[in-house]
Amino acid sequence: MTIPELSATLDRSACERLDRDDDLRAFRDEFILPPETIYLDGNSLGARTKGAAERAQEVIADEWGTGLIRSWNTAGWFDLPAKLGEKVAGIVGGETGSTVVTDTTSINLFKAASAALKMQSAAAPERRIILTQRENFPSDIYMLQGLAEQLDDGYEVRLVDDEEVTAGFPNSMTDEVALVVLTHVNYRTGRLFDMETTTSAIHAGGAMVIWDLCHSAGALEIDLAGSGADMAIGCTYKFLNGGPGSPAFIWVSEELQNGFSQPLSGWWSHAKPFEMSPDYAPAEGIRRYLTGTQGIVSMSVAELGLDIANGVDMATVRQKSLALSDLFIDLVETRLAEHPIEVVTPREHAHRGSQVSITHPEGFAVMSTLIERGIIGDYREPSVLRFGLTPLYIGFTEVWDTVEALRDILDNRLWDAPQHQVRGAVT
Ligand SMILES: Cc1ncc(COP(=O)(O)O)c(C=O)c1O
Repeated sequence: MTIPELSATLDRSACERLDRDDDLRAFRDEFILPPETIYLDGNSLGARTKGAAERAQEVIADEWGTGLIRSWNTAGWFDLPAKLGEKVAGIVGGETGSTVVTDTTSINLFKAASAALKMQSAAAPERRIILTQRENFPSDIYMLQGLAEQLDDGYEVRLVDDEEVTAGFPNSMTDEVALVVLTHVNYRTGRLFDMETTTSAIHAGGAMVIWDLCHSAGALEIDLAGSGADMAIGCTYKFLNGGPGSPAFIWVSEELQNGFSQPLSGWWSHAKPFEMSPDYAPAEGIRRYLTGTQGIVSMSVAELGLDIANGVDMATVRQKSLALSDLFIDLVETRLAEHPIEVVTPREHAHRGSQVSITHPEGFAVMSTLIERGIIGDYREPSVLRFGLTPLYIGFTEVWDTVEALRDILDNRLWDAPQHQVRGAVT
């Protein structure tokens, strides 16, 4: 899908026409959003899926209330991490039996990074450096720093700029690098990194790679197995619409699966958990990446979002996402030209995820004013207004209306009011 006219000639009715011709239009009905709301924060928390409340009710009233403990077997609770893992694999290009849904992204990163370092340490003990993006989501950096400290074995976390990653690590890939942890799409700017070429550059340097797919799973085509990557992690609550705090996933390449040494070796990763043996023996295959008992209500609700993503052609999603962000960027640049706004999301499609980020010196207050009008994006330090574009429930007219609202707010300095300076704990 391409935008036929640029904004010099484009108007709201042209956007309405684009929405009428949209192949993904019907998916809007799979979600429940409040009236009079434009929801541009699906890159942070996806929208509520249509059957979520009913599914939670069913799990609570029937499976828990009536089935009680029997439901671990009869309702398939025990198998949910693997069952949902298969559904995630279908979205991110994992092989059968390569992925489980469990824990949080942060915890899964700890497990994956620990296992990768152990593998590397056996093969190349002199490699003690972990590289990650300076602009990676801070939790990933903190988890790596925490792991290095726990290991107390000379590991060092080094931060590299996004440009260094895109260029294939010309300055940072030395024979001391053991592991590279990369977020596929920068959470602040929306910059996308090429998985295949970046993975090749890392492997050529003798290091392993873990990809964080939080901001790309469900938003664009991913071919984990085909890319040659080693491991990947990601969440289900953004573009996969799993619900607040829904469980994350972990994928490990087939080749590495049974060499994966689980640092959080709880009973769910045991080969025979119900033998209650005092001796640990890791399960073969993906159950090895589990740790302990999972939140079944949350996991059951997350399945609805995964089913929607599995039922859609990701190439069509990507095409519409790029058309939406092209339109957004074009409108910002032409209709807000006299304001101190900078688009920080890359213009090149190959480097763009599914969001548009712009900066404004009063970014927080501007976003607060937009949210007061029912146009929900979010704000990230410093000065960044983020607009997530989820093609399944966002249309071209909503992009038009958002930029027009921004124009009104900026032209009339509506952001300049005391209530728009007050920050909650979550921005
Ligand atoms: C890229 C990225 N990685 C990791 C995380 C942390 O996820 P969690 O809080 O589920 O561990 C987030 C959260 O938004 C994220 O965006």
